[in-house]
Amino acid sequence: MTQSLTIRRPDDWHLHLRDGEMLRAVLPETARHFARAIIMPNLVPPVVTGSQAGAYRDRILAALPEGMSFEPLMTLYLTEDTDPEDVAAAAASGLVKAVKLYPAGATTNSASGVTDFRKVVPVLERMAEIGLPLCTHGEVTNPEIDIFDREAVFIDTVLDPLRREIPQLRVVMEHITTSDAADYVRSANAGLGATITTHHLVINRNHILVGGIKPHYYCLPVAKRATHQQALRKAATSGDPRFFLGTDSAPHVDPAKECGCGCAGCFTATNTMAILAHVFEEEGALDKLEGFTSLNGPAFYRLAPNPGTLTLERSPIDYPAKIETQAGGPVTVFDPGFTPAWHVSAVSAD
Ligand code: DOR
Ligand code: ZN
Repeated sequence: MTQSLTIRRPDDWHLHLRDGEMLRAVLPETARHFARAIIMPNLVPPVVTGSQAGAYRDRILAALPEGMSFEPLMTLYLTEDTDPEDVAAAAASGLVKAVKLYPAGATTNSASGVTDFRKVVPVLERMAEIGLPLCTHGEVTNPEIDIFDREAVFIDTVLDPLRREIPQLRVVMEHITTSDAADYVRSANAGLGATITTHHLVINRNHILVGGIKPHYYCLPVAKRATHQQALRKAATSGDPRFFLGTDSAPHVDPAKECGCGCAGCFTATNTMAILAHVFEEEGALDKLEGFTSLNGPAFYRLAPNPGTLTLERSPIDYPAKIETQAGGPVTVFDPGFTPAWHVSAVSAD
């Protein structure tokens, strides 16, 4: 039995770091293991322009503890007023690595997102020209559409028509939750990839709802039935380079989760690598872990894999149940419902 596994240092291709005290509290949890992350722009107010992204990047680097190495890969929040030339300049300078599409109202801080997709076509055409990826929160917001169907309906009514209209547009379907999404990725050409979160490999909708409501398992897109969870596990562990890790680790303080109208988000930065090693081993695919966490994402984003390494050892350790913050309460770390058989024992930056 393998006792130790060394892989290229991983990246997180979808991460929420927030700002201020929350940023200070959660950044070390990611930087301890991950070399880089695609940083979500859904701050209040959102990160819309290149200069806002530059200022946010500076705040992230200022919050990084001494001795930690971490590179934030910045994104812009797409609005109906986004200027194609500002996007192109921010990409050309190397600052911005993707643009994020939130359908207005789809999730946390998405009110400034897109309602009329026709209005963003000029930006998307410019992005297609320069090869800048569009990251999509792939859910429709039409109140008549059942929340469990919103991803599948988005693919049929928004994403597929958009990709037919702008075939050169490179798209990442973020945090996919359905077999429909995994099948759609497989049916497409090289310009389409998908991130999969740690928590969607571990939970399905029963975990949220059976035996009492579990607010710390509530995220968006909401976890679907077990057959979809199985399809995600199959996709993530398949070795198909179009699937890669985006944790969507999304901190909310406990009072904002454990209340009458709780926020969406699972916080997985702390124990993601241990959980993934456990899941990949369960699937008989430990040899595919490095591709999923460290190789497939850089290949899609046309970046080199990290020079450093991360070593996992087969023995459990206790990860903290909560991260303390000065942001109004602690953040609960995702509980996978099992003790991961692995832990991260060493990380080298080069
Ligand atoms: O669960 C989620 N939390 N899904 C999202 O799309 C946003 C995120 C957040 O920002 O909290
Ligand atoms: Zn997210």
